[in-house]
Amino acid sequence: MQQKNIVVIGSSGHGKVVADILSHMPEYRLAGFIDTNKEKGTRCFGALTVLGNEADLPALMAAQQISGGIVAIGDNWIRSQVVAKIQAIAPAFAFINAIHPSAVISDTASIGTGNLIAANAVINTGAVIGHHCIINTMACIEHDNRMDDYASVAPRVVTGGNVSIGAYTAVSIGAVVKHGISIGEQSLIGAGAVVLKPVDAFSTWYGVPARKMGERKAGDKYL
Ligand SMILES: CC(C)(COP(=O)(O)OP(=O)(O)OC[C@H]1O[C@@H](n2cnc3c(N)ncnc32)[C@H](O)[C@@H]1OP(=O)(O)O)[C@@H](O)C(=O)NCCC(=O)NCCS
Repeated sequence: MQQKNIVVIGSSGHGKVVADILSHMPEYRLAGFIDTNKEKGTRCFGALTVLGNEADLPALMAAQQISGGIVAIGDNWIRSQVVAKIQAIAPAFAFINAIHPSAVISDTASIGTGNLIAANAVINTGAVIGHHCIINTMACIEHDNRMDDYASVAPRVVTGGNVSIGAYTAVSIGAVVKHGISIGEQSLIGAGAVVLKPVDAFSTWYGVPARKMGERKAGDKYL
């Protein structure tokens, strides 16, 4: 099999998780990391190092035959900004999905590009996942869910059927979302929440049952 040379953008703990998943995908050879906040040459995952920053991408792609990769930044808003920057600097960069081999994904689910689908995640029949989403370890996205671009579900999140999660919205660790619930864009569901009512856009909800605890605006921090 002809391996594709790729990079991971972002070398934090989340970047390491993505690198680990990619090490189980034989179609890819991870060349290293791109990170604006670390020195070139910094070791990040085994022998893999930071190769440069986003501005270095066009030269790196040419020199190392790098075809693309994935942005591994946990904050949904910052991830979207970095994707936009790469699209402008390196239009040929092809965003890939990092999917752990233990993830169970229905053949009838639709998955965009640039997504992270971590170990033991389940994506059930009829689910539609946009681009650059995170479906983290052991998360369960049930049948006919919709996740819009840049949305994320943390480890052990469970949704019922026909849930929708709006663009940039983060559902935090261990939260449970009742079937049929719609969560608007740019919202934040706190750790361990049990969401029983529709969640409006640009809001923070947590608790059991989850209640609205605040308002958000685009670019507010997620964690
Ligand atoms: C929801 C959340 C963003 C709120 O953060 P915050 O606004 O900084 O809230 P604070 O830490 O100031 O806490 C305010 C109060 O709400 C409570 N609270 C905070 N998060 C809560 C939650 N998820 N469930 C219930 N109560 C919560 C705190 O105990 C505190 O109560 P107190 O005033 O009686 O002491 C955050 O607590 C959270 O759940 N983050 C998710 C983290 C996560 O999933 N990480 C893993 C990513 S892989």
